[in-house]
Order: sequence, then C-alpha cells, then structure tokens
Amino acid sequence: MTLELFPPQAGPPRLLIVDDEPGIRRVLADIFAGGDYVIATAENGRVALEHFAAEGADIVLADLMMPEMGGLELLRRVKALDDTAAFILLTGAGTMEQAVEALRLQADDYLLKPFNVDEVVISARRALEHRRLLRENRSYQRGLEARVAEQAQQLENLFLDGLLTIANAVEARDAYTGGHLERVTLYAVAAGSALGLGEDELRDLVVCGLLHDIGKIGVPDHILRKPGELTEEEKSVMRRHPLIGAAIVERSAFLRSAAPGVLHHHERWDGRGYPFGLTGTEISLAGRVLAVVDAFDAMVTTRPYRGARAMEEAREELERCSGSQFDPQVVAAFRSALDAGLPAPAETRYVRVLLERVGANVKLARTGPASL
Ligand SMILES: [Fe+2]
Repeated sequence: MTLELFPPQAGPPRLLIVDDEPGIRRVLADIFAGGDYVIATAENGRVALEHFAAEGADIVLADLMMPEMGGLELLRRVKALDDTAAFILLTGAGTMEQAVEALRLQADDYLLKPFNVDEVVISARRALEHRRLLRENRSYQRGLEARVAEQAQQLENLFLDGLLTIANAVEARDAYTGGHLERVTLYAVAAGSALGLGEDELRDLVVCGLLHDIGKIGVPDHILRKPGELTEEEKSVMRRHPLIGAAIVERSAFLRSAAPGVLHHHERWDGRGYPFGLTGTEISLAGRVLAVVDAFDAMVTTRPYRGARAMEEAREELERCSGSQFDPQVVAAFRSALDAGLPAPAETRYVRVLLERVGANVKLARTGPASL
C-alpha cells in the first residue's frame, strides 16, 4: 500500500486543481477559497503529477483533456502513488467510454462542464469522506494484524516455555551434565542454518533438539542411570527411546513435524544405527543433523579435560566418522558453523526467541579458528 508515502496531514484537506484553462482554475480556486482547503493549481497532468509526487494531495480536481498529460492518465498515476487519493474528473466534451474508464480507475466522480458550484462542492466533500473511510479502514486492519502477530508471539513463547520445562524434566533424570539439550539445540540450529534450511525446518530442529531424548521417560531409572556397561537386554530397552519419543511427539499437532528427527537421531549414515538401521537419506535430515550435534556435545562434555582441546578432538572425531556414522554434508555444514563461531546468527524469529530464552542457561565455547 502507499499510505506511508502520504501520511495524514493535520489541518484542512489539500486540494489540487488541474486545468489548462486559467479561467477554470481561477473559478474552481474561488469556489474552494475561504480556508476550508489548502489549494494548489497545475496547468496540466504532468505538472500536477510532479506536485502530487512531491507533496501529495487529499483530493484532485482535474480536467479530462489537457496538453502533455490528460486527466485519465493523471488519475491512473495518482492512484498508483496513493490509491486512497480522492479524484474528480471534469470535462466539457467527454465520451461515454471515457466516463466508464474514469470509473474503472476509481475516480470518485465525473462532472460535466459547465458545473454548478454546489455540485462541485458536494462532490468534493463526498470524495473526501470516502478517502477518510478508506484510510480508517486500512489503519483498523493494520491494528488487527499487529494484534494477531502479537498474540501469535505470545503463543510461541508459551509453547517454548512448555518445551523447555519438559526437556529439563527429562534431562534431570539423565546423567548428562546440565545444558546438554539446549546446547544440542543451538548446535542443530547452527548446522541447519549452514545447510540453508528455512524457518519451518529450523523450528523442527529446535523441537527435535529439545525433545530428542524425551522417550527416556519410558526407560527405567536402573537402566538409565546405571554406571557400568548395559547388558544386551538393557541396551534393547534403552534403544527404544527414539520410538517412545516419536510416539509422544506425534500426539501433538504443535510437535508432530519434529517426530522424524526424534525417531532417527540414533540412526547412522552407514545403516548401523537404531531403531531401524536406515541408511543415507532414508534417515530424515533432522535425524542426521541431530546425530552429528548430539555426538559432538557428548564428546566435548565427557572428555576428562574441557575447552579448546576437547573441541578440537571432537571435531576430528566427526571428520573421521563422516561418511560412516554421519552424513558428510551435515558434518561439513556443522564444521562451517563452528568455524563461523557459535551460536549461529539466527535470522529467524522463532530461533531468535529460543536463543534469547536458552542463551542465559547455556555457555557455548566460542569455537572459531582463532580459539583452536
Ligand atoms: Fe537419544
């Protein structure tokens, strides 16, 4: 819309009179004189358009036939600049086709010369009232749109709060160091951004990142927290957590699109993962991303030492397993995200909100090349 170009002006309406006959311009200016209008005049359409483009006008009264640019062309161009501008055409010799064209171009009125004073004044008032209503309607619509956007944002925030609460409850049962889920989420988003994913896919990565291990709710404590190595039977129980997690996530319309990522986060590129042993791109992209970033965080945080050395070793491990355990494209994308420094400068609103919310709980090492 073109409203911003011509913000409403306080004071009397601005009237632009356009006619190649000086006598008519004078008569019209006299009719509207007296302080109710701020009047400008132009001798043809071209001059009028220049004035309109520079200063705007609330209402244009224009002759139909003029040298350089006639009334119909002026009408078309004025409406292109401000489609709420009031416009009245005046003519001494109009054809029916011209009148129809004027209405098609949304002229407010089409008056025949010689006009009478009351007719012009009433027509101008009516046209200005129409403009006022149009503008009011637009601003009302904008107000509504802003309100809807604000409520959508509030819903998203509530949704994120819910996700974080659930994610933290799950993580609290696990032996992981705190902040694993948030870090994995930020890593996943960084890798996803480097892969060029759109907002919807990044949002799914956020959900996957936070909820990928939610299925551990179904794994008994004595297995989940067992310090030693798991027996084969215990392993098979543990390995059900992606299935349980995906089933939980699938039940929610909000979360459903993230289910494939949850389901596949322990699959391996070479087919040696679980629960299905899928290979390559049979595994959802979210699952492939999560596999990389989940392993990376586990490696970094379970090393006896921390910091740059752990980071560097974890990176080397990813490279070593690229093409076997991990999707090489995802490894490359994550590497470039690490090189660029984390967290990624997320451009999308959803991810930005998440970063703001979890940012406080999470301490990500800056891992640009200079720090390695
Ligand atoms: Fe897992």
